[in-house]
Amino acid sequence: MIIRRETPADREAIADVHRGAFSTPEGREPVEVALVDALREDPGWVPELSLVAVDVEPRVVGHVCLTRGDLAGTPVLGLGPLGVLPHLQGRGIGAALMHAALGAVEAMGEPVVVLLGERRYYDRFGFVPASGLGIAAPDPEWREHFQARTLSAWRGDLRGVYRYAAPFAGVG
Ligand SMILES: CC(C)(COP(=O)(O)OP(=O)(O)OC[C@H]1O[C@@H](n2cnc3c(N)ncnc32)[C@H](O)[C@@H]1OP(=O)(O)O)[C@@H](O)C(=O)NCCC(=O)NCCS
Repeated sequence: MIIRRETPADREAIADVHRGAFSTPEGREPVEVALVDALREDPGWVPELSLVAVDVEPRVVGHVCLTRGDLAGTPVLGLGPLGVLPHLQGRGIGAALMHAALGAVEAMGEPVVVLLGERRYYDRFGFVPASGLGIAAPDPEWREHFQARTLSAWRGDLRGVYRYAAPFAGVG
């Protein structure tokens, strides 16, 4: 498996990844599919931080992207969505995408990454509840599920309420 940037040819396969990963029992189209398409058109989109996991076939089996939101006037990256094809989950593909993404943002000199997700999954990548760092969720009901991972360029004065890129409005 390799991790690389997405290309225009990957778009339908990326939609299929999120369609599968976030599928609902009612069979409705998951919001994550349209979210990724809308993010690509947003000023917060960072092309080098939309990563796919590709297996030997080669076939896209997982995807993650990070987009720029705002923390008290500073552009700060929000991670998500992250998805892996359902029948291939639990084999380290999500971890490979997370490590690649975090390595890239560390190399770019970013101070911090935030996300909304399960504590039990993301604590292994160094995420902690964002509130402990003075970073408040856009929705207070997210509590400890709104998490942050500091990087080497972290500055303690980055505090305030985080605002995701506009397409996230209404998702979460
Ligand atoms: C979450 C997801 C991206 C992880 O990718 P993956 O390739 O399955 O994960 P990995 O193989 O790297 O890691 C597997 C571990 O993650 C855990 N895990 C997977 N999904 C989890 C979840 N939603 N909450 C907590 N733990 C989770 C597994 O229990 C396993 O734990 P273990 O290592 O202690 O046995 C993938 O399961 C997925 O697409 N899930 C559906 C979509 C989703 O929930 N995305 C994240 C939104 S926050």
